[in-house]
Amino acid sequence: MKVTPWEVEGKIDYDRLIKEFGTKPITSKILKRIEKHTGELHYLLRRGIFFCHRDLDWLLDKYENGESFYLYTGRGPSGYTHLGHLIPWILTKWLQDKFDAELWFQLTDDEKFLFNQKLDIEDAKKYAYENALDIIALGFKRGKTFIFTDTDYSGELYPQAIKVAKKITFSTAKAVFGFKNESNIGQIFFTSMQSVPAFLPSVKKGKNIPCLIPLAIDQDPHFRVARDVLPKLGFYKPAIIHSKFMPSLSEGGKMSASDPQSCIFTTDTPGEVERKIWNAFTGGRGSLKEQKEKGGNPDICPIYQYYYFLFEQDDKKLKEIYNSCRSGNRTCGECKRELIDRINSFLKKHQERREKAKKVLDKFILKS
Ligand code: TYM
Repeated sequence: MKVTPWEVEGKIDYDRLIKEFGTKPITSKILKRIEKHTGELHYLLRRGIFFCHRDLDWLLDKYENGESFYLYTGRGPSGYTHLGHLIPWILTKWLQDKFDAELWFQLTDDEKFLFNQKLDIEDAKKYAYENALDIIALGFKRGKTFIFTDTDYSGELYPQAIKVAKKITFSTAKAVFGFKNESNIGQIFFTSMQSVPAFLPSVKKGKNIPCLIPLAIDQDPHFRVARDVLPKLGFYKPAIIHSKFMPSLSEGGKMSASDPQSCIFTTDTPGEVERKIWNAFTGGRGSLKEQKEKGGNPDICPIYQYYYFLFEQDDKKLKEIYNSCRSGNRTCGECKRELIDRINSFLKKHQERREKAKKVLDKFILKS
């Protein structure tokens, strides 16, 4: 298993990650505390798809004592958005609605340029604004949502990033991110840019404001470093809530944009969705006869995981899908057909909202 901000490989053992990264599991006690404020629990919390955290209890203490928090999350624009990226953003949108929180959304075009040999900065910028359309399409609130690319907002970000950079040694960066002597120096500096939105609103408002960062666990190392440095600069440590990975359509691994067949992009056509889902790995048996006799295995099946992560939000109906697969009543063909229809109706609406987002993009974007 390998989980870094740039590579996720192998079978992910989430309990082991909790131990190795030093995060805390999300307990039913903390979920009840959230529910007290939100009135209900989002399915991503209920199902444990968001499974661990840092300082979420502290953030709730602050909230209960009258200090409201803001949200911060982001995207490295190396291509179009895939469905896996939406997972942290869907919970972020729910949190924005429930807590009436501002969202600061960072598009790290600099990161993708520095880490991807084939991507030039103009392409990263182009993808950044493509990705911004997906963010707006999810329905984040205008006037409370601030989206920016690192290069276009550098006037605000850079003066803060150098304060962070001054507190991080090369040996820390090497230990946390595995840099080598051959790594380019932009890569080594980059984590300071990703830490800035975790305190920039505090700088702007001239007082400390608690920050909550929803992300998938691969991005945690950046904030491990940021959480060490920020108190030294007089700011709160950001709280974090971590999600699991929506899996690849192939066997094992996470949905990753670097393998286009492993994922569904928000810009895919109905035909592309159909082809990718038909070609996907499943937990089905070798023949229909065997499937009927022995049943399938949803626990290893990415098609089932798609229902679980996004396309069946009703727990009772999800259980029915699970049980009918296990008992051999549901064939992989039926299951795939139904999923294709659900994904395509989701994407149809999303793509319409994406088109509309083009007209209001400038109302969300910050530049310096
Ligand atoms: P990036 O573009 O790799 O990913 C964007 C967000 O999506 C999450 N993610 C996934 N979640 C569920 N299932 C998957 N298969 C999956 N793949 C990716 C990532 O964890 C991330 O939350 N450097 C960052 C951009 C960034 C950022 C941030 C992310 C800047 N500031 C603050 C989170 C929080 C990046 O390249 O993300």
